[in-house]
Amino acid sequence: MRKIILNKLGDAEQMELTEVEIPSASADQVLVKHAAIGINFIDIYQRSGLYPLNLPSGLGLEASGVVESVGELVKNFKVGDRVCYCNGPVGAYAEFNLVPESLLVHLPNEIDFDVIAGGFLKGLTAYFLLHDVYEVAKGQKILFHAAAGGVGSIATSWAKSMGALVIGTVGSEKKLDYAKSNGCDFVINYNTSSFKDKVNEITNSEGVTVVYDSIGKNTIEDSMDVLEKRGLLVSFGNASGVPEPINILDLMKKGSIYVTRPTLFDYVKTRDQLEKASSSFFEALINKKVSIDIQQEFSLRNIADAHNSLTRRETMGATIIKP
Ligand SMILES: NC(=O)c1ccc[n+]([C@@H]2O[C@H](COP(=O)([O-])OP(=O)(O)OC[C@H]3O[C@@H](n4cnc5c(N)ncnc54)[C@H](OP(=O)(O)O)[C@@H]3O)[C@@H](O)[C@H]2O)c1
Repeated sequence: MRKIILNKLGDAEQMELTEVEIPSASADQVLVKHAAIGINFIDIYQRSGLYPLNLPSGLGLEASGVVESVGELVKNFKVGDRVCYCNGPVGAYAEFNLVPESLLVHLPNEIDFDVIAGGFLKGLTAYFLLHDVYEVAKGQKILFHAAAGGVGSIATSWAKSMGALVIGTVGSEKKLDYAKSNGCDFVINYNTSSFKDKVNEITNSEGVTVVYDSIGKNTIEDSMDVLEKRGLLVSFGNASGVPEPINILDLMKKGSIYVTRPTLFDYVKTRDQLEKASSSFFEALINKKVSIDIQQEFSLRNIADAHNSLTRRETMGATIIKP
């Protein structure tokens, strides 16, 4: 089978398309034949060395497909089942991957393989951010950065369907209309105007209840400044770099604000948590409260182009790889 192998950390050119043996499933493992593979910003953090990875390594955490074979202790999956996963193990950029039964989920017939590969990790992220980190309520004002991106486009439409007033930021003019069509009430281009000034204008200087910040270094300071008293900053990514350390006294000075830095993997740690988040997201997809918009498709052969288009901020919505 064909698989992307990383022998060295670094730029997108380090990802090598390699021919390897199809692996066999051990006791609790399921061999999945991929129909489609998802691309996420975390793959870039791992490839570049920001997040740890033991080399040589595969790359990619999510895919959808069909069960090809199962280990002798596997109870809940059989050959031919439609499945998806988004919690690794790393190595999804391949024609097949071995996945522990505990991390695999049955995919409902109503949901397409490409669609879920493009948005399972992003959808579960939107779920835990809007429900578990903080339960967003009707009428609350939230700010979501990178609103036209993979996570952003799902989360903003979901938050809108929950009755929130959603302010989104985007980095270019072409993304403004896209973010608006996904449910944002207001969209700000943070490359051409100060989002801090704009949010103050929109909220009559009261600020928002929650800021969802995946940009990190470039935005975190202003993100704290647009919170209402006792508001919550959810820092959940570092697309522009890791933020500077926060001075704890500033939390008091800025209005007794809260800060959290969560990761999805701590919110779908148990089987119950994974199943609850997955079924809530599948239900939202089937009932059209949210959608996954595949705007970019690549192949394993041009995987470097996929990564580069993400880091150059050229993408909108979700990106998949066809094996
Ligand atoms: N904590 C978690 O569990 C978790 C889970 C999933 C994702 N995430 C984070 O959520 C974010 C979104 O992930 P995604 O896969 O859906 O990616 P994405 O939003 O499709 O792409 C990232 C976006 O970030 C914006 N951006 C701003 N500054 C950037 C810079 N210097 N370099 C590159 N992009 C920049 C760009 O949008 P504009 O052009 O509109 O600015 C870009 O399109 C990432 O930071 C990711 O790490 C966290």
